[in-house]
Amino acid sequence: MPLYHKLGKIPPKRHTIFKKADGSLHYEQLFGTIGFDGMSSLLYHLYRPTMVKEVKSAKDVSPKAAVTHNIKSRLLKGFQVRPEEDYLESRKIVLFNSDVNVALAAPKKSMIDYFYKNADADELLFVHQGSGTLKTFLGEIKFEYGDYLLIPRGMIYQVEFDSEDNRLLVTESYSPIYTPKRYRNWFGQHLEHSPYCERDFKLPQNLQTHDEKGGFVMKIKKQGHLHELVYASHPFDVVGWDGYNFPYGFSIHNFEPITGRVHQPPPVHQTFETNAFVVCSFVPRLYDYHPKAIPAPYNHSNIDSDEVLYYVDGDFMSRKNIDKGYISLHPAGIPHGPHPGTYEASIGKAKTEELAVMIDTFKPLQLTQAALDIDDGNYYRSWME
Ligand SMILES: [Fe+2]
Repeated sequence: MPLYHKLGKIPPKRHTIFKKADGSLHYEQLFGTIGFDGMSSLLYHLYRPTMVKEVKSAKDVSPKAAVTHNIKSRLLKGFQVRPEEDYLESRKIVLFNSDVNVALAAPKKSMIDYFYKNADADELLFVHQGSGTLKTFLGEIKFEYGDYLLIPRGMIYQVEFDSEDNRLLVTESYSPIYTPKRYRNWFGQHLEHSPYCERDFKLPQNLQTHDEKGGFVMKIKKQGHLHELVYASHPFDVVGWDGYNFPYGFSIHNFEPITGRVHQPPPVHQTFETNAFVVCSFVPRLYDYHPKAIPAPYNHSNIDSDEVLYYVDGDFMSRKNIDKGYISLHPAGIPHGPHPGTYEASIGKAKTEELAVMIDTFKPLQLTQAALDIDDGNYYRSWME
């Protein structure tokens, strides 16, 4: 996050004596990214963050390809993914490549008896249904329908849900997820033409410091394996921190659409960037206002991207037979476009209520069995007249 934030108590000068009430020292930790070149935060713990008590078993949770070479357009019925009790078990990877995993999840229970850290990837959660609190060792973020939660790699967290009715779209990125560079000035501040700005971000608040020793299970995802470690102190023992490396939230409802006289290309919807894929938000907006404008998109052949569109809410002007939670996959190599009739029907319309999240990957995506299980199977023929 290209802005400075701090919570709790920190010493006035970094790397200097900072004592607890009993006279002993706090334990400082630099929590950085990209070696020492990326964003970082400085944390102050009650206990050493290195007190590993036990290393237990590891489980392979890497995605397995059911389709490695896909050229079919696909339609996945996302809400057919069954709810499961556990947050991590509920995450079903449907699409992936060497840069990114896209998963659907319907977790029922809050994470209570363990902590989780993804050491492989930044995580971007999109909250389609449900609300609750993202609890991290850097503070808490309340979330609700429409929120993106960006959790940089290495953050120790738990998710607390308000109910059992939750639906998440989970993106794991092996390269950092940033706000687009073209939205920011040289200092990192979001510019006037950016569709959102710093005021729209939900920053961590309510830092909770747990002074507890014992046995605390942490599940750490590393190299596609889920390792289970036991730590001797509570992972949320930070008394204060400051810096730039922290999780944050952003509501899709705060994305201000950019519109024009004629059809605007997908980059106007861009919300996040990585060096391997982009994330865009399609939100309710006024349509193009040229008197002869065709609001529906033209057929396009984005030869270098697989396009994943996750339908959240509203009407989807260029598609037929689309419901909430559906995912369309339009693979690189073949063109795609509006369904028959929708192109003509869009003419003269003043606005759209569509709400969708798009993930465009620069490398082709593979499909897992979990994807095939919810695949409509006939979508690739849906443009036939
Ligand atoms: Fe497209």
